[in-house]
Amino acid sequence: MYTTLAAELNAGIYTITINRPDKLNALNRDVFTDLNTAVDEINSNPEIKSAIITGAGPKAFVAGADISEFGGLDKAAAMALAKRGQDIFLKIEQSKKPVIAAVNGFALGGGCELAMACHFRIASEHAKFGQPEVNLGLIPGYGGTQRLTQLIGKGRAIELLISATMIDAATALQYGLVNYVVPAEELLNKATAILQVINSKAPIAVARCIETANAVFDETKNGFDEEVKAFGECFATNDMKEGTTAFLEKRKAVFTGK
Ligand code: COA
Repeated sequence: MYTTLAAELNAGIYTITINRPDKLNALNRDVFTDLNTAVDEINSNPEIKSAIITGAGPKAFVAGADISEFGGLDKAAAMALAKRGQDIFLKIEQSKKPVIAAVNGFALGGGCELAMACHFRIASEHAKFGQPEVNLGLIPGYGGTQRLTQLIGKGRAIELLISATMIDAATALQYGLVNYVVPAEELLNKATAILQVINSKAPIAVARCIETANAVFDETKNGFDEEVKAFGECFATNDMKEGTTAFLEKRKAVFTGK
């Protein structure tokens, strides 16, 4: 199914591993094609409840867009490349099922942008984050200028963007870029444990939380109106009836996603 990813479905959790360790999992066209397919798979396969994106090997999550593909691109081709990357990352951000990044090493350039497109991030102790594009005479093209500013605030984001400074996992935690920092050998276990909790919740409610939180950053939407609508829609679900009934009957709810 994929040429550049390894994927495994285990108890509802789809673990996607970007698998170009000799190139530090740099994002070339094939990786983008595979990531696009993987997000479609997440959203269409009813067996998948949530997903983890990580990188192969001990060194890198993703060390950026594949710089070897930049040669000879003119302005229009570069814009098309950025648009395609942005569209795929937006699709991850807008996924109805939770997608989290397990950052196992360098998350630079497009790698940091990929991690930021996920719903939240967990890092291993040796992870490093940065947008080093200005070193190449470039800027981030896959949403990095926007999501970094959303996640860590304008002052910190502009400093990282214009200085190409790499930050370590502890700093990323302090900045709120990642939710947890754990030893490398515990990274996937931690991600899995968090998703097991989330997977036990009502899937439509989970999807609506993601959607309404995303609305904060969508100029075409009023997030408060979206919340009212989503709140009402939850009342029309079987899972809302089950959740409230189970609470009153002092038993654990069994959600069906309907
Ligand atoms: N695009 C293409 N190839 C990349 C890459 C990228 N973004 N990042 C790493 N690689 C390749 C290297 O060219 C090298 O390939 P080779 O063995 O065929 O020469 C291999 O991955 C290993 O990388 P290397 O640089 O030798 O590892 P290192 O430990 O010395 O340095 C980094 C690690 C992450 C600091 C360094 O690879 C780096 O700066 N990468 C580019 C980061 C970047 O600018 N990303 C933004 C791109 S827009």
